[in-house]
Amino acid sequence: MTAWKAKRNIMKRYNITAEMYDERYFEEQNRKYQKALENVDVKGLGVLDVGCGSGLFFSYATTQTAVVVGMDVSHGLLLKAKERAEQFGNVFLVQADADHLPFRENFFGAVFAFTMLQNMPKPADTIAELRRVVETNGRVIVTGLKKAFTLSKFMDILEDSKMQLTVFVDENSLNCYVAVLAA
Ligand SMILES: C[S@@+](CC[C@H](N)C(=O)[O-])C[C@H]1O[C@@H](n2cnc3c(N)ncnc32)[C@H](O)[C@@H]1O
Repeated sequence: MTAWKAKRNIMKRYNITAEMYDERYFEEQNRKYQKALENVDVKGLGVLDVGCGSGLFFSYATTQTAVVVGMDVSHGLLLKAKERAEQFGNVFLVQADADHLPFRENFFGAVFAFTMLQNMPKPADTIAELRRVVETNGRVIVTGLKKAFTLSKFMDILEDSKMQLTVFVDENSLNCYVAVLAA
């Protein structure tokens, strides 16, 4: 199967499950947002939320940042994100593939990807693409689903991304590892 066909199947799956996403994942994802924001300062920054899903992170990000761009490959989830974004004045949405971000180099102060990498054929390459669009002194924050990545596999991915690991969280209360990376 080509990489795009695999991605398209993933996209269709998320489109189908979009309606039940919040109900199923709300609490779990919130714990990750809190943990990430304890470890990175996003005040006043332009932030990209890659694989934003239904936009659960917006309510955290919008209170601190200048602008949030939510980006996802799934049309179904972006429709949910659009409903949510209406309550905030600083959220913009884009449909795209995380391996081909439609933004220029060094554009965002911080880039987040919560529970997204398990969908990507080459997660280290995806992280390199996230790095491309973050400012030189910015941060890329990714989480790795423990069900999909052993700790050593996830560490290998982070190492292959060639970014510098500044914070790593592996807590029992989270079903993901949380990593803060610098360029
Ligand atoms: C488990 S959900 C996490 C959603 C969101 N980050 C959150 O915290 O609730 C994974 C998300 O990754 C998105 N995704 C999967 N493959 C993608 C790709 N190739 N490019 C961009 N987003 C993708 C899915 O559509 C889905 O919204």
